[in-house]
Amino acid sequence: MTLLYVGGSVPLPWSIRMKIALGAAKGLTFLHEEVQRPVIYRDFKTSNILLDADYNAKLSDFGLAKDGPVGNDTHVSTRVLGTHGYAAPEYVMTGHLTSKNDVYSFGVVLLEMLTGRRSMDKSRPNGERNLVQWARPLLGDKRRFYRLMDPRFEGHFSIKGAQKAIQIAAHCVSRDPKARPLMSEVVEALKPLPKLKDMASSSYYFQSMQTARSRTIQNAKNGNRTQAAFTTRKGTPARTVSSQTSAQASPNHYPGLSPQPQT
Ligand SMILES: Nc1ncnc2c1ncn2[C@@H]1O[C@H](COP(=O)(O)OP(=O)(O)OP(=O)(O)O)[C@@H](O)[C@H]1O
Ligand SMILES: [Mg+2]
Repeated sequence: MTLLYVGGSVPLPWSIRMKIALGAAKGLTFLHEEVQRPVIYRDFKTSNILLDADYNAKLSDFGLAKDGPVGNDTHVSTRVLGTHGYAAPEYVMTGHLTSKNDVYSFGVVLLEMLTGRRSMDKSRPNGERNLVQWARPLLGDKRRFYRLMDPRFEGHFSIKGAQKAIQIAAHCVSRDPKARPLMSEVVEALKPLPKLKDMASSSYYFQSMQTARSRTIQNAKNGNRTQAAFTTRKGTPARTVSSQTSAQASPNHYPGLSPQPQT
C-alpha cells in the first residue's frame, strides 16, 4: 500500500476536502462501529490522515489507540494523551476516554478543512488561537456561516454543503459528549457533500457580501491575517501547505491535507 503525505501549494477544492473528510469519517466509523472490539483512535488530527493519489484517506499512527470500554463500562480511564486543540474537553478534564473524544477531534478536523485554519495557531490574535473557541459563536449562526469559510475557496464551495458541514462540525464539537453524533451518522451526512455544485461564487448574495467585506477590510487595515487573506489576489503563490509542526507553516493552511507524493 502506498501512503502519501501531503505538502504542496494549491488549496484543495471543496469536493476534495469533503472527500477526505468522508474518507476519514469512514475510517473512524470502522474503528468505532464495525470491528468486534471497538477501538478509540484517540489521536485523530490532520497530520494523521494520510492521502493516496486519489485523495483516499487512511488513518495512520495507532500508537495511542485504545480498546474501547467493555461490558457495562462507559469509558476507559487513561492518562490524557493526544494533541492539544483536538482533544475533547471532558477527556482533558477527567481522563475518561470514550469514542466521543474521537468524534470531537473529527469535528475539529472538519473545521480545519472548512476554515483553512489550524486547530491551534499561536500566530493568530488572542481569541482566534484555538479554532473551536473562535468558531463556536459562528457555528450556530446560519446567516454568518460564510465567515467561517476558508477565504482561499474564493467562493468555490457549495453553500448548502458548507451549511451542512458546519452543522456536522458543530454537533461533533458539542460540549456535551452525548450530543455528539455517531461517526456512522457523520458519514451519512457527509456523503452528498463532495458532489454539491451550488457554488457560493455564483450567488449574487455571496458576491455582494464579499465585495462589502473586502471594502471593510481595506478600510480597517488592521493587519489581521484572515482578513488579509480575503484580499489575496487570485493566483498569488505562497500557499504552502506543510505539516502542522512545520515552523514555516502558513497560518491559513490546514496542515497535512494536500498531496505530495512520496513513495
Ligand atoms: N506513512 C507516512 N507517509 C508519509 N508521511 C507520513 C507518514 N506517516 C507520517 N507522515 C507525516 O510525517 C509527519 C510526522 O508524523 P508523526 O506521526 O511523527 O507526527 P504527527 O502526526 O504530527 O504527530 P503524532 O505523533 O501525534 O502522530 C506528519 O506530518 C505526518 O503527516
Ligand atoms: Mg502522526
